[in-house]
Amino acid sequence: MKLLAISGSPSSPSKTVLALSVALARGAEHDDVHTDLLDLREQELVFSDGRDPADYTGASRRAIDDVVAADALLVGTPMYRGGYTGRLKNLFDLLPNDALAGKPVGLVATGGTDHHFLALEHELKPLVGFFRAWAVPGAVYANNTHFSSGELVDRDVRDRLNDLADTVVAFARHMPTLAGAAAPHIPRKSATEA
Ligand SMILES: Cc1cc2nc3c(=O)[nH]c(=O)nc-3n(C[C@H](O)[C@H](O)[C@H](O)COP(=O)(O)O)c2cc1C
Repeated sequence: MKLLAISGSPSSPSKTVLALSVALARGAEHDDVHTDLLDLREQELVFSDGRDPADYTGASRRAIDDVVAADALLVGTPMYRGGYTGRLKNLFDLLPNDALAGKPVGLVATGGTDHHFLALEHELKPLVGFFRAWAVPGAVYANNTHFSSGELVDRDVRDRLNDLADTVVAFARHMPTLAGAAAPHIPRKSATEA
């Protein structure tokens, strides 16, 4: 099973990457789970321009292929203005509509304070819902007091990230490929047709 974590943070160091790394380490403890991190700080992705996702090349192509190849995902973002970052949104705009269908996704967000923790429910769940992915219960939010000296030190948040990873792996093992009703077809017009 391929467990892929995506971090939408543009910053170095990144608290979001720290949080995702805790969950990824737990995921790797399961038999036959191979983990990887798609760190959007390191990816030179083009801006989505509406072309067919099959036509992207280079780093954008590789990022799309990594997401499509994943069996289960962790998606993490810092809160930016009460929502997810533009980098994360752009990656999702690059993906084909069926890239996540039936896959479990564990959601992780970090913010300066707890003011925006419901963005997990109102921003991130609808985003993965569009893709007919399963947003597993127990999304994890960490605020800046949970980190110290470059580490995620809060025991409760670490435990919750471990539980999230366990849940995502269990979903992928027991409910593979279930994606509900097919999505409506979304036609794309080329510039010459417009
Ligand atoms: C442009 C910008 C916007 C931000 N907006 C919010 C916000 O709306 N709510 C919040 O709680 N924190 C906000 N923050 C703080 C970050 O979400 C927080 O420090 C986060 O843990 C940073 O994660 P990172 O180190 O992975 O980038 C903002 C930070 C920046 C740079």
